[in-house]
This record gives sequence, C-alpha cells and structure tokens, in this order.
Amino acid sequence: MSDNRLIVALDFHNIDDVKQLVNELGDSVNYYKVGMELFYSVGAEVVKFLKSSNKNIFLDLKLHDIPNTVAGGLCSLMNLGANILNIHAGGGYTMMKTAAERLKMEADLLKIERPKLIAVTVLTSINQEDWEGLGYNLQMKGQVVRLAKLAQKAGLDGVVASPQEAKAIREACGKDFLIVTPGVRPAGAAINDQSRIATPSQALTNGATHLVIGRPIIAAENPKEATQRILEEMSTIPAAQ
Ligand code: C5P
Repeated sequence: MSDNRLIVALDFHNIDDVKQLVNELGDSVNYYKVGMELFYSVGAEVVKFLKSSNKNIFLDLKLHDIPNTVAGGLCSLMNLGANILNIHAGGGYTMMKTAAERLKMEADLLKIERPKLIAVTVLTSINQEDWEGLGYNLQMKGQVVRLAKLAQKAGLDGVVASPQEAKAIREACGKDFLIVTPGVRPAGAAINDQSRIATPSQALTNGATHLVIGRPIIAAENPKEATQRILEEMSTIPAAQ
C-alpha cells in the first residue's frame, strides 16, 4: 500500500540515514521532503539519490528575500529536478508573483517541467502566544487565509498550512489549490514542537492534498509499521476528485 498524498520529511543530516529509511520504507512511500537540515549538510546529492530511486521530492527550503533574489534562487533549485519548491508568503505579493513568473519563464526556456511552487503561510509551530508576540492585528486563521489568497493571486500553485486551517483555505481558494499540511499527528503520537495539529484523517477531511509527516515516522521504533498505520488511516478518506 502507498499513497502519493503522504510526504515523509527526511529531517536527518546525513545521507546514510536517508538511504536506510528510504530503503526500509520501499514502495510504501513515493514522496519525500528534503528540508534545510538535510540540504544544508548534504546538498544536491540527496536529491539525486531520491530521483534515482524514482521518488517525488518536495524541496522545502522556504525562501524569503527580495523578489529578484528569491526568483534567482528558485531557478537555481529548479535544475535539481524537485517536484515542489516553496517560499514564504510573508515575502509579499510582488516577491511571490516575480518568483512564479520567473520560474515559469525559465522552465519554458529550458523546456523542462516547471515544479509546483507553494507558499508557507504561518508556520504550524506558531502558537497563540508567539502570534501575539509578532504583533499582528488579524486572528491567526484570518491571516493564513489572507496569505493563501494572496499566494493564489500571485500565481502560486498552493500553500503550506496547518491542517486546522485547511478547510478555510479550501473554501477561500477553490478545489485546484494544493494544501500541504505539516503538523500531522496520529492519535496518541508525541506533539513535539508543533502546535496547530490534526490527525491524518482530520487533515484530509479538512481538504489537505498532501500530509507532511516527519517524527511520527522517522523517529518511530518501527518506521515501516508506523507508515502502514498512517496509510491505513488515510485510505479511509478518498482523494478529492
Ligand atoms: O516531525 P514533524 O512531523 O513535525 O515534521 C514536520 C516537517 O514539516 C518538518 O520538516 C518541518 O520543517 C516542516 N514544516 C512545518 N511547518 C511548516 C512548514 C514545514 O512543520 N509550516
């Protein structure tokens, strides 16, 4: 059993751990997330390994800088061949629009498939106290929806958000918008540093298209069994048409 809606976060800092987990999970997982911990220590080698193992890749480097720098950075990353790249919506409309346009132009020029580009709305680890400390006037959920609509208007393919906000985003942005949700915890699993969490089935019911799951799988005593349990739960919620 496998499910392309499951993305396992490879939060390691060496390639041997990656190879061991990917081999152990085998055909049960087709999609992996490479984040900053792994990419900053191993670099392009990990993307090459995953591609040679026929896996899909979400390269989660959350770019956040001025428009020209983010667009240039994304074009460099696109050459690695990941399926999804991301930026921070907090960089603003102009940054997101420039990034989406330049990525499309560069992909057309190189005649390669453009990776999906999604925006991080508000990190799933941010709790109400952190939020208030940042000094925003809007409610957190209102801000997430506002950023998702801005990302859509700027030409992005979707967002990263908490499963608790997926329903409101789906309602605001329509059906063809990717909603990738970290902060997913099977019932009874440790919450770790996440705050705005939901179970795999709740996240899918709320409209998530992909679930990013790290520690509940990679830190499990038996990662394969943990994955199977999550896949079974996910199979009770069919993919939206
Ligand atoms: O171990 P856990 O399941 O909490 O891992 C979640 C993964 O999703 C981590 O790699 C984290 O960096 C990433 N992520 C997140 N919240 C976001 C965006 C990405 O937790 N808003």
